[in-house]
Amino acid sequence: MEATTLIESFRVDGKVAVVTGAGSGIGRASALALAGAGAAVVCADIDGASATAAAQEIAAAGGVAEGVTLDVSNRGEVDALAQRVAAERGGIHVWCNIAGIMVEGPFLDAPEEDLDRIISVNLKGVFFGCQAAGRIMVTQPEGGSIINASSAAADAPSPNIVSYAICKAGVVQMTKSLAVEIGKKKVRVNAVAPGFVLTGMTGRYFVRPDGTVDEEMQEAVIAPMRKFTPLRSIGEPEDIAAAFLYLASDASRFMTGQVLRPNGGVAMV
Ligand SMILES: NC(=O)c1ccc[n+]([C@@H]2O[C@H](COP(=O)([O-])OP(=O)(O)OC[C@H]3O[C@@H](n4cnc5c(N)ncnc54)[C@H](O)[C@@H]3O)[C@@H](O)[C@H]2O)c1
Repeated sequence: MEATTLIESFRVDGKVAVVTGAGSGIGRASALALAGAGAAVVCADIDGASATAAAQEIAAAGGVAEGVTLDVSNRGEVDALAQRVAAERGGIHVWCNIAGIMVEGPFLDAPEEDLDRIISVNLKGVFFGCQAAGRIMVTQPEGGSIINASSAAADAPSPNIVSYAICKAGVVQMTKSLAVEIGKKKVRVNAVAPGFVLTGMTGRYFVRPDGTVDEEMQEAVIAPMRKFTPLRSIGEPEDIAAAFLYLASDASRFMTGQVLRPNGGVAMV
């Protein structure tokens, strides 16, 4: 590939992308990154207002986007969205399964309802997204790219998040197994395993009842994370979005079944 063409291959002009969890944090940053690099983006989130806000921000910047309400744990909703987008936009080239929740607490006391809830979003939600997108992508001559959000929690075990970690480890194995199954149809399946990023999911512990952020408490928790991360830093949503964009683009055309780890070096696998 020539150098100019190589640089251009990092763009995603003409591609149709669906991003789940696009209303906040990493999903939002990824939706904005994909749109900024030329894709038409469907911003999907269970919080429909936040999905619409992300789409409006993209449109205001001159991009193409729509916001939709979607519960990734509802297979019918996921299938219907994929079918509708493919029919209206002429296909789906990129599908990012980023929606996720955190449930934490001591393993020995973990209620079954919490386990069911996290599996339904973080594991079954990714399964349904892969299936809905995969069914469409295997029929397209150009194939497609599916990218799943895993986590450094799958690489570096931490206490009190066992159910979260097993979901994220499951996402890795789903990614690899599916990559083997549908690679011959030019459908690539990869995962991104971020290190700690301050988002709605991780930042809510520092928000006081009046909505203000307890900066002192936040710093007390984050400072040790920086200290034990080789790059001495936590991540920004854009650091993770860059990995999603690369895996969405043709620059990664020879990558499948892989896990990219934008994590500051906190886990090296
Ligand atoms: N923030 C981190 O440090 C971190 C690290 C590793 C992995 N991750 C993963 O990255 C992904 C994004 O996390 P984030 O930190 O940006 O969190 P976030 O809470 O900021 O965003 C998650 C989004 O998913 C949406 N969502 C939740 N349940 C949903 C459902 N059933 N259907 C559709 N949308 C739903 C939420 O409304 C929210 O907008 C998650 O899968 C998370 O596990 C985050």
